[in-house]
Amino acid sequence: MAIFVDGAGSALLLFAPLLMAQSDLQRLPPEHPNRGLPCEAAIWLPYASSSAHVANRIFCSMYLDRCIPSEVGGALIRERSATAEFFVPGWYFQKRPGVASDAQLFGGDGRQMPREGFAKEESAGLQEDLDAIDGALLAGLRGEPRLAVYFQNDLLRLVRRLMDTGQNRELISPLLACAHRLALPAVVLAKIAPNFAMADLQKVFPEWLADGCVEVERRSSQLFNAQNSLAWSSVFVQWPQSAEPNLDAWLCDAVGAKDAPHPIPVGTLALLVQGLVALDERSVAHAVPIIIDVRLQRLSNRDPLRMENATTTHDGIDFRLWQMPRQVLRESGAASSFADFRELNTEDHELFRDYGTRKHTTIAAQCSLCHRRTDGPEEALAGFSALRPSSNPRRVTDKGERWRLAETEVARFLAEANKACTPAK
Ligand code: HEC
Repeated sequence: MAIFVDGAGSALLLFAPLLMAQSDLQRLPPEHPNRGLPCEAAIWLPYASSSAHVANRIFCSMYLDRCIPSEVGGALIRERSATAEFFVPGWYFQKRPGVASDAQLFGGDGRQMPREGFAKEESAGLQEDLDAIDGALLAGLRGEPRLAVYFQNDLLRLVRRLMDTGQNRELISPLLACAHRLALPAVVLAKIAPNFAMADLQKVFPEWLADGCVEVERRSSQLFNAQNSLAWSSVFVQWPQSAEPNLDAWLCDAVGAKDAPHPIPVGTLALLVQGLVALDERSVAHAVPIIIDVRLQRLSNRDPLRMENATTTHDGIDFRLWQMPRQVLRESGAASSFADFRELNTEDHELFRDYGTRKHTTIAAQCSLCHRRTDGPEEALAGFSALRPSSNPRRVTDKGERWRLAETEVARFLAEANKACTPAK
């Protein structure tokens, strides 16, 4: 990992105690066996400054869950045997079923929603809280468009989750009603300013050249279909300048060819940016420039998979990832930018329910599952999933294409959700 930290990294570490953000105090520190998971005593203030605010209470019901993970990853330090080398083919697949003593508090002001459903009394309490988002309280939330959009998106994500788990059908209607009350007029949504710029990423990671990347259109997998994710996603690729073939020639050769593509050159970078889709007052979906998740991937080497290959996947791929905490978005107001994002450490833990199972593992292990270089059929692709020839990757020519696609997909989600809360005749 060390080589992926820019020159200022070590200097910054010296000042770390001074720079500790509120979000660092809410999560267990690197020396803790559950590093990165939420602290028991943390106070979460995503949508309002008071913890008693009903919107914050709703957040805690959605995004904090004490539960037994269904699986525990072998990548957690305490799960590894002291004698055997851990970074061998399949290390990212290592896991065992969760048992009662694995129960932890998971979630927090991040992207993974740990909840799968609610007990009867919890559901009744949540319905009451949702109904309370009205009047002056609702007006207060709507007065901060970015927060209202984020809160609405969280409610819709819970609708999605409950439809997927088949639990608490009774909550779908109150959740949708609350999401609709939060909806803003289209003209207000159109005025939302972006909270991310390529130039700001370059300041943090100088190797990323703000004007040196190409946006790639592709057929996304289900994981990135906004009918599931309720977010738009864009992928940008920065191909090494001197590499032969160049990106256009590579794309041209790869798509539709029977043979494996040319190996992706060492030094290639790719960026995944995900942002919110909001429903307006007439239930029309609008992709908005509120970016909540930024992920950077680099093919650093093609050396063998082993402990000493100091990359996130241990077979040559490095990741850096940043998220926009809701609380920071609220506190920074309209002035928020990439500088306000929280960088996650790839050794931190998470419960990855959004990827299908409640697996407790490290970020590095989860990313390596899908983005590894070796021991898969796509060695040449080196884990650059968006460039899979079967996804028909090509240069973006129509800048609005990804956003419109996400809007159509969210409209489909809404139709599905409306159906789910209409009593069967
Ligand atoms: C379940 C599989 C899966 C997991 C786990 C996963 N990704 Fe991905 N990722 C994908 C797919 C599929 C794409 C292509 C998306 C598209 O084309 O729309 C992708 C795209 C990306 C991209 C854009 C470049 C590329 O490879 O296409 C980055 C960067 C990225 N993911 C980072 C991460 C990080 C960091 C993690 C760990 C937190 C992670 N991913 C976990 C499946 C996964």
